[in-house]
Amino acid sequence: MITRRHALKSAAVMAAAFASSPIRTLAQSTEGAHKLPPLGYAYDALEPFFDAKTMEIHHTKHHQAYVTKLNEALRDHPDLQKLSVEELLKDLDKVPESIRGAVRNHGGGHYNHTLFWQCLKKDARPLNPDGNLIKAFGELFTSEDDAKEQFVKTAMGVFGSGWIWFAVDKEKSLKLVTTANQDSPLSKGMTPLFGLDLWEHAYYLKYQNKRADYVQAFAALINWEFIEARYDKIVA
Ligand SMILES: [Fe+2]
Repeated sequence: MITRRHALKSAAVMAAAFASSPIRTLAQSTEGAHKLPPLGYAYDALEPFFDAKTMEIHHTKHHQAYVTKLNEALRDHPDLQKLSVEELLKDLDKVPESIRGAVRNHGGGHYNHTLFWQCLKKDARPLNPDGNLIKAFGELFTSEDDAKEQFVKTAMGVFGSGWIWFAVDKEKSLKLVTTANQDSPLSKGMTPLFGLDLWEHAYYLKYQNKRADYVQAFAALINWEFIEARYDKIVA
């Protein structure tokens, strides 16, 4: 027969066991130098192009997982915890080999998504016809239609998961490039200007296998105000 005294004792034992359980350890391990940044707008702000459910899962689950796993990788490396994610990705050789893959993947995932959220805006103003960025586009493409066509074609050419980017190289030239997985242009000596996530997690709920429709929808969500200011700063 279970007496009240026994029940209380069992509860105390369970509480003590929980306090040192792996669940608690796991919760503590999510703390670290890197944090999930706020999205900056509501999850449904980009409807109907990017749906609210995808945005919520993308931000709170996928991006959060990259942050959590980056912090876990850096847990025993206090010197590296002091560096920004940009500094880590720009020079992966200074990261010990034992965690280099994790920093490349999860640090890249954290950085790429942080930039991605900022580059999205519904009803954004058009590209400034007198700005520096439109001139740089003019050196890459013959027309707006040509730019869109090349962008979609290049995005469709990425096999599996990756990103498509406009990035600025060391000579301050604008390039259209792709990266595999969560690799960042930063690790290739370039500064990403803006990019599009080509992982299925970014579009599958709404677009399923129709990546081209998702890539075309992106055209309606490009935050030119943010991107042009970023471009001017990069090439200054
Ligand atoms: Fe993603």
